[in-house]
Amino acid sequence: MADRSSLRRLRFELNGQWREATVEPQVLLADFIRNHLGLKGTRKSCEVQICGACTVLVNGRPVSSCMTPAFEIDNKSVMTIEGLAQGDNLHPIQQAFWQEGGLECGYCTSGMILTAYALLGENPDPSEEEIKHCLSGNICRCTGYVPIIAAIKRAAYLMRSDATAILSLPKSDEQRVDGPAKIRGEAIYTADLVRPGMLYGKILRSPLPHAIIKNIDATAAEKLPGVVTVLTRDDLRDINPYFGPLVKDQAILALDRVRYEGDPVAAVAAVSEEIAAEALGLIHVAYEELKPLLSIDEALADDAPKIHEVTREHGEKFPGYPSVDEETKKYRNVSFHFGWNKGDIAQGLAESHRVFDNCFYFSKVAHYSLEPHMVLAEWRDETVTLWSSTQHPFLVQQEIAEMFGIAKENVRIIVPYVGGAYGNKNHTKLEPLATALSRKARRPVYLSLSTEDTFRTVSKPAMRVRIKTGVSQDGVLIARESVVHVDGGAYSDAGPRVTQKAGYRVHGPYRIPNIKSDAYTVYTNTVPAGAFRGMGTPQVVWAYESQMDMIADELGLDPVEFRLKNLLERGDDFSPGDTPLDCDLKEGLRRVAREIGWGEPLEPDCGIGVSCALKDGGGNYKISEARIEIDGQGKVTLFEGTVEIGQGSNTALRKIAAQELGLAAEKIELAPLDTSHTPFDFGTYASSGTTVMGLAVQRAAQAVKTQLIDGARSLTGRHDASFELHNGLLRVGEIAVSFQEVVRHVKGAIGTMIGEGRYESIRDKNLLLGAKAPFWEVSWGAAKVKVDRVTGEIKILKFVTIADAGKAINPQQCHSQEIGAMVQGIGQAFFEQTLYENGIMLNPGLINYRVPGVYDLPDELVTILFENGNGPGPYGVKGIGESGLLTVPSAIGNALFSAAGVRLSELPLTPEKVWRSLHQGYFNQ
Ligand code: FES
Ligand code: FES
Repeated sequence: MADRSSLRRLRFELNGQWREATVEPQVLLADFIRNHLGLKGTRKSCEVQICGACTVLVNGRPVSSCMTPAFEIDNKSVMTIEGLAQGDNLHPIQQAFWQEGGLECGYCTSGMILTAYALLGENPDPSEEEIKHCLSGNICRCTGYVPIIAAIKRAAYLMRSDATAILSLPKSDEQRVDGPAKIRGEAIYTADLVRPGMLYGKILRSPLPHAIIKNIDATAAEKLPGVVTVLTRDDLRDINPYFGPLVKDQAILALDRVRYEGDPVAAVAAVSEEIAAEALGLIHVAYEELKPLLSIDEALADDAPKIHEVTREHGEKFPGYPSVDEETKKYRNVSFHFGWNKGDIAQGLAESHRVFDNCFYFSKVAHYSLEPHMVLAEWRDETVTLWSSTQHPFLVQQEIAEMFGIAKENVRIIVPYVGGAYGNKNHTKLEPLATALSRKARRPVYLSLSTEDTFRTVSKPAMRVRIKTGVSQDGVLIARESVVHVDGGAYSDAGPRVTQKAGYRVHGPYRIPNIKSDAYTVYTNTVPAGAFRGMGTPQVVWAYESQMDMIADELGLDPVEFRLKNLLERGDDFSPGDTPLDCDLKEGLRRVAREIGWGEPLEPDCGIGVSCALKDGGGNYKISEARIEIDGQGKVTLFEGTVEIGQGSNTALRKIAAQELGLAAEKIELAPLDTSHTPFDFGTYASSGTTVMGLAVQRAAQAVKTQLIDGARSLTGRHDASFELHNGLLRVGEIAVSFQEVVRHVKGAIGTMIGEGRYESIRDKNLLLGAKAPFWEVSWGAAKVKVDRVTGEIKILKFVTIADAGKAINPQQCHSQEIGAMVQGIGQAFFEQTLYENGIMLNPGLINYRVPGVYDLPDELVTILFENGNGPGPYGVKGIGESGLLTVPSAIGNALFSAAGVRLSELPLTPEKVWRSLHQGYFNQ
């Protein structure tokens, strides 16, 4: 802490008003704005001046407030997002972002808008290239940038035009209901919360990838002034410290040994983050190093040491998961095996004209949602309240109750806005540690990870996929045998589930009579690996769609025709008993081929590639419940548990309820997600929100609508009348009564009319996954690329992606989701990969880990939504949002081969790898 003589007095203009303050010299501007000035719209993410989330304007210029000392604003003007709107009137840039859907989770939005403000102040009519240049210092992980660019173009137009007239335009039906809060910087995320007496938590992590913990000495840390408690393994003896969605193998803190670099070993709660961080350095841990197992092969070796000596119980919440089977027990470091067969694989391969046997590798990838993992826990009298950025509030509630031995009702999970989640906030993560800290400290504890530590919390698993495919002379697939090894890291997390899905989906969208599939989750001494958008599908699509082109090439077949010959037809079984295929795969493939220009002449060094994939969508064990209440004032409130992670569920679900009740979407209030009053939902995953929760919401709305109509008949005496609902009224002929009148008539002035709806997936223990897929999520992708033979760089000239939405409730948001997913696919195709050396991650955080920026967009991008009404959800809806990612790496890999004759089996397709392949002959000389 600085002495008083080092304090700096500042005078600065903040959003048009001069202010004075005193600040310690080490305080950063972002913290000063958020904590001292209380303006929470400025977000913090990477903290290394790369993501742009913390951008504010100082003297009109964008600066990264995470790296700027606060004292530098002395005698300067500062503009934050809160300074843009004038009362109720949004600034034209905010209006444009809302209208164009230039936001999803909203975590990048303040920085994006202020960057745009600075640009348009200097250049009122920027070209697209100038807009991209201006955005090159801002990262959005959700939208894929395209709607943001469109928003800035629109803003420029609005600001040049008669703003008054344009700002009074009626709100479009497509605008997000959470738009205003996010573009004003008023949306409340977990990081924005403060509780009385709140402490700050920090985690001490293992510096070693594999070691026995000999001793932990926290004495010095406990004595540091400002430290309230230090949590070590000794504090976990009276609870069940293990958690995990399927295999409960991860303890709150490492108990006997650490299993990866970054494994939590101890934690501190202190009165400030700085003191908590300082205290970590005073905890002494004695380790005995063990040999780390860093690859799938090392972990599978017969003489490999066991990373987990004890096989922990499998969770019981997923009935389709077998307990540890005999195949699992054959291996020393396998936590889960999934296998299935169809036909006779040996005979099928024997009867094949050719058998292709190839192995593909997909690297470990970081999720990097701009909002890191964070949770605020408040333990009081054997109850705990958690404000958590989670995709699974109800499962977290259950798991916390079981671990701490308290009733489920005594665990309350509240989910504020979530700043992006692509599987990384799936299931339990930081919540048990925060709970344990708060329980010991007897005070609320806020635990937030740095971006570096989010990289050390969960990853997308690396996967090795070996596929053996037998094919007839004329190109008919006869047999496919596959072995998938999922590098699950040190703890299972959702790895087994990813493994199951990968093993189930690895034969692809093809009609193959003989199938054998085995998939394994393998423990290694690396970061635990779990769910990521697509749940194991992008990895297996990379393998099977690359191999499809390899087979076509060897057999002299056109890759599109070869696929068309083998694709499943609508109504075909993907696997015995599962939901029959609900779309026309051939229609999509023909369309994507046409859009990319299949068969047209290509420029030198250019090539095109296609890819086609599907996954079971909507979640196999999904239960979703919803409730709609109409009170005596006629206010309509929707209670449902889908987490708004940026995907637009709040808007889509309100639109469904609104459609049924004849209201505008904004007339429906959405209750905050709080397990104490929100009906149960299994979780936010598998593109399930609009379809599965959508059905629950639709049913709840229909239930309350029936009561309204019955009430209106009773109130008016028109017992056979067919009332129609419109704009808060029930009408028949000249008669109109309001919701308010009907509710008061039926329930009294303080009564509430309640409609409930529920969806539960169809379970069948005889099915491979234990339940039927609600729908099939389909992806068609096509890439046109140009390869630079000098540098090995691949440039995407055009990418086409098609998704089967069934019916788009909010087309703008559907396109944005697909583009965002596609851009994530570009990152995984070209450069995203966490790297290790001797078990130490070399690139945690954005300095050395690159995520796609605005310059990584294809030159031309086409997104198409099929709307054939073929989904099971309201009005024919099917889930999308993962689909845009599934086919990207393989379409690009196939285009690379088309352009340069180079076939790479291992992602990412870095320029170095491409260059080396192109110049193989040079190295062989
Ligand atoms: S640039 Fe400041 S948080 Fe990323
Ligand atoms: S909206 Fe840009 S990061 Fe989520």
